[in-house]
Amino acid sequence: MKIAIINGPNLNLVGIREPEIYGNRSLADYLQELAQSRSDVEITLFQSNHEGDIIDEIQRVGFSADGIVLNAGAYTHTSIAIADAIRAVTAPVVEVHISDVQSREPFRRISMIKDACVAVIAGHGLRSYNLAIDHILGLKHNG
Ligand code: DQA
Repeated sequence: MKIAIINGPNLNLVGIREPEIYGNRSLADYLQELAQSRSDVEITLFQSNHEGDIIDEIQRVGFSADGIVLNAGAYTHTSIAIADAIRAVTAPVVEVHISDVQSREPFRRISMIKDACVAVIAGHGLRSYNLAIDHILGLKHNG
């Protein structure tokens, strides 16, 4: 089972950035450990601050991975191009957020990508990524 984790802008700064919202732990470290500890899945990690690079990665992995865990950061709220990329590929995509976007500023309640995704998992801190992987495994097991 191959799962691609794709992170968008500013997620490279989780651990330093607004710790009251995103916590003190480095996301990169957390995901490295997650990739090593989850022997049930083969995980690839990608992060970019650039919209086109995120689209390139969705296209690159989106026909061979069994699922994509995507935290598009602020592009979640703006990017029709990322929504189109999700629709273009065959892998199911789970939209993920560390914070509870529904209880923050009104603009964060809007997701341009959610209708292209199979699920949205938000507000569980870094554990949101683990839950998204479990969701993809559930899709496979339930057909
Ligand atoms: C985020 C929420 C977004 O609104 C924000 O722009 C981010 C991080 C999250 O993981 O909680 O960069 O996607």
